[in-house]
Parts: sequence; structure tokens; C-alpha cells
Amino acid sequence: METLLKVEGINVYYGAIHAIKDISFQVNQGEIVTLIGANGAGKTTTLQTVSGLLRSKTGSILFDGQDINTVSADKLVGRGLAQVPEGRRVFLQMSVEENLEMGAYTQPPAGVPRDLEMVYDLFPRLKERRSQVAGTLSGGEQQMLAMGRALMSHPKLLMLDEPSMGLAPILVEQIFNIIQDLNRKGSTILLVEQNAQMALSVAHRGYVMETGKIVATGSGAELIESPEIKRAYLGG
Ligand SMILES: Nc1ncnc2c1ncn2[C@@H]1O[C@H](COP(=O)(O)OP(=O)(O)OP(=O)(O)O)[C@@H](O)[C@H]1O
Ligand SMILES: [Mg+2]
Repeated sequence: METLLKVEGINVYYGAIHAIKDISFQVNQGEIVTLIGANGAGKTTTLQTVSGLLRSKTGSILFDGQDINTVSADKLVGRGLAQVPEGRRVFLQMSVEENLEMGAYTQPPAGVPRDLEMVYDLFPRLKERRSQVAGTLSGGEQQMLAMGRALMSHPKLLMLDEPSMGLAPILVEQIFNIIQDLNRKGSTILLVEQNAQMALSVAHRGYVMETGKIVATGSGAELIESPEIKRAYLGG
């Protein structure tokens, strides 16, 4: 299996706070890989480091065969690395369609109408609301919009930071179904979640983070069956 992302021995600090402690993990082409862990474990910090918003003091991050440790976040989008940040962060003043068009800023304009249709097929709700200002969308609709906007950049790797946060169970299920659907259509996905049950049930492999370290790894099925993981993360 071809490795798309390989993170090795990274350490990330916020001033004196050592947030990421020498972690290594990888995502292979075609996989859904999840990083799970409690509040403050370092999941968001890890994604921000891969996407170039934060820097590691050590180690290496290889994406698509190239070292991206010093490449800026906006350049990485053009190279096929897209992140849907925690809390969605869509452009609240802009319409749904304008938000999606913003996501295509690295793409040739000629392909944008086709890509809009691709996103609207995936999220019919967004099509109905294409002229609505994003700030008035529900939380679930904003999550769909944030995912749709990321897809407009034709990512080789789609990184999602807690897509289920704050959503009703029915919507969480819908979002996870879409994640699986995208993956079946060829997207490689790195999924950060506190909802370990849902994340492990869709992921091929997972890594468990605790206070800045990776403390367990395995297939989604192995982790979901592990007594320690059940006790700590699955309420059993
Ligand atoms: N800007 C910052 N300045 C200082 N410390 C920070 C900053 N951002 C995060 N931290 C600290 O780094 C650690 C990891 O935070 P991070 O946001 O990566 O956790 P997380 O696993 O994403 O948590 P959550 O599930 O709550 O989103 C925490 O102890 C947090 O307090
Ligand atoms: Mg987080």
C-alpha cells in the first residue's frame, strides 16, 4: 500500500507547553485513519502541524513523497492537503456558493461549475441553500459546507477535525455516512474525533492519543474491541 502521509518523531510546543511528544503515524492511500483522544490530548495540534499552521521542532512530515515540514499552509492546499478545521469556520458573511468557490481558489476556474455540482450531489441540502448566507445555516449544514469547501480543492488527503462536534445523533450518522461514501469514491481521510465509537467504526486504522503521546494503535475493529479502549473511550 502506498503511503500518502508519514509523520515521524514530531514535537510541538506552545511556548513552554510541550503539546506533542515525539509522535509518529502514517496514512496510506485509500484509508480512513482516525486519531482519537480526550480533550487536550493534542489531536488538533497534530492536524495543525501537518497542515503547516504549526511547526514541529524535530522529525519529519512526508506528504506524497515530499518533505513538507517547512511548506506554508496555503501552498499545501495546492498540493492536495485540505483541512476542515475544528468548529467548521466557514465565511459567515458569504453565501453557500461563494464559500464553495473560495475552496476552489487553487483550481482552474473552468472546472469549478462541475465541482460545485459534485458537492451539491453529495450534499443536496447545500444546493437548496446555495444563495443563503453561511452564518444563518444550522451547525450541521455548516459542517457540510466546510467539508464541501475542502472538497473543492481536489484533496489527495482530507483532514477532518471533529466533524461530529455539537451535532444531533442523526446528523452525526449522516456525516459519517458521507465520510465513508467519500472514501469509497477514492478519498483518503484523516479523521480526528472525540466520538471514538463512530470514528473507530468507520476507520481502517486508528491511533489513540493521550497527553501528547500515541498510546495505542491498531485496526478500527481491534481498537473498538480492546478492553482498555472500551473502558477509557467507549463508556464500557
Ligand atoms: N494556542 C495555544 N496555546 C497554549 N496551549 C495550547 C494552545 N492550543 C492548545 N494548547 C494546549 O495543547 C494541548 C493540546 O491541545 P489540542 O487542542 O491539540 O487538543 P485536542 O486533542 O484537539 O482537544 P479537543 O478534543 O478538546 O479539541 C492542550 O493541553 C492545550 O491546552
Ligand atoms: Mg481539538
